[in-house]
Amino acid sequence: MKTKTSTTRPSRSEFATHWRLDPSITFLNHGSYGACPEVVIDAQNEIRALMEREPVRFYMQHLERLSDVVRQRVGQFINARPQDIAFAPNATVAIATILNNIDFKPGDEILVNTHEYMSAINELGRMEQRLGTRTVKALVPFPIQNEQQVIDAVMASVTPRTRLAIISHITSPTAIILPVKKLTDLLHAKGVRVMIDGAHSPAQVPIDVAHLGADYYVADFHKWVSSPKGSAFIHVQPGLQKGFRPICLSSRVHNVREDRAPFLAEFDYVGTSDYSPLLAVPAALDFFEKALPGGIPALMKRNHDLVVKGRAAVCKATGLMPPAPDEMLPSMATILLPAAPAIYKNPPKGTPRSTFGDPLQDRLVEEHRIQVPVWALPDCGTRFTRISAQLYNTLAEFEYFGQALKEELEREAGM
Ligand SMILES: Cc1ncc(COP(=O)(O)O)c(C=O)c1O
Repeated sequence: MKTKTSTTRPSRSEFATHWRLDPSITFLNHGSYGACPEVVIDAQNEIRALMEREPVRFYMQHLERLSDVVRQRVGQFINARPQDIAFAPNATVAIATILNNIDFKPGDEILVNTHEYMSAINELGRMEQRLGTRTVKALVPFPIQNEQQVIDAVMASVTPRTRLAIISHITSPTAIILPVKKLTDLLHAKGVRVMIDGAHSPAQVPIDVAHLGADYYVADFHKWVSSPKGSAFIHVQPGLQKGFRPICLSSRVHNVREDRAPFLAEFDYVGTSDYSPLLAVPAALDFFEKALPGGIPALMKRNHDLVVKGRAAVCKATGLMPPAPDEMLPSMATILLPAAPAIYKNPPKGTPRSTFGDPLQDRLVEEHRIQVPVWALPDCGTRFTRISAQLYNTLAEFEYFGQALKEELEREAGM
């Protein structure tokens, strides 16, 4: 397909044959929704076939057994006891589940920071209305020089009313690794419970739940582990599991079980749904463990090194500055952009609504065939783009993006 960028579209890496990505698109946004390799889709299809061959037996017998297989594997992967892990369809539900399991009182403060994901912030907004809690936002700067700035900002916002702190392991808008272990220890010393939002963490950074010691840890598998969409976990410390329940109670929860803790039984079945994304998580872990000699640690290093080089290439082409040190990056990197032209805010009557939220992203996708997000961060009042480096990407793709972004920013400057 002919596109606007003057150079030829670069190929993906030799690993790209494992994915079914649209060949006409340069795909630099693995972070938002992941992308599932073909062998993992095949594994999911086998699970679905088992489900459809005998649905009653699947839901009444196989589901718990297969969930335990996943639980065992996930426990090894995140260094946690399997019996402390429940599953959820995604991090959004996992976070809301935790919030709804804490007995907040009016005036209780929940501490977040300006880089937290909007689904958590939105759920907290609902709690403010319903329960009279207060959301306190620590202002973490961006651009940022080091992790101490995060620690200082978060700890300066703790008050005697702080009940819970929510901290991303990797921030979504700004793609930086936060010092979650140091923060957990410091917050615990002040008597504050800690929820780590690790939506992006599995297969981007090592996860050691036992060492971390947070009260709650949630993460997605469908992002960087590239399992099918709809697979996440909630780790809850044993002392907090009593009465910890899903947001929706299934038709089974009144049955008293001698053989299984309610924490497991209630989360393993939350009504009729497609549980195959979760049950395919071991296949996704297998894929990445075998993809490179050195397994997932080697994958994380490769992707980190690539995104560091990719960010440098985009900055070189556009003259933009890297806003965070290399060592704070996982396999993603955010670059700050000039403010959007005023005309975007007040478009002439009849201008169609932006498909992707910012006309710059629309043009990158439609004119250059590059899928990469362009977002505004309300608390920083600026625009940015975030690149992701997955096994199928190459440095040439980031160079290609740098060229396209340069052209589009020059175009915007003339508007
Ligand atoms: C930090 C963070 N938390 C939560 C979420 C929500 O994840 P999901 O859409 O899988 O619910 C995201 C999604 O990008 C995220 O980046």
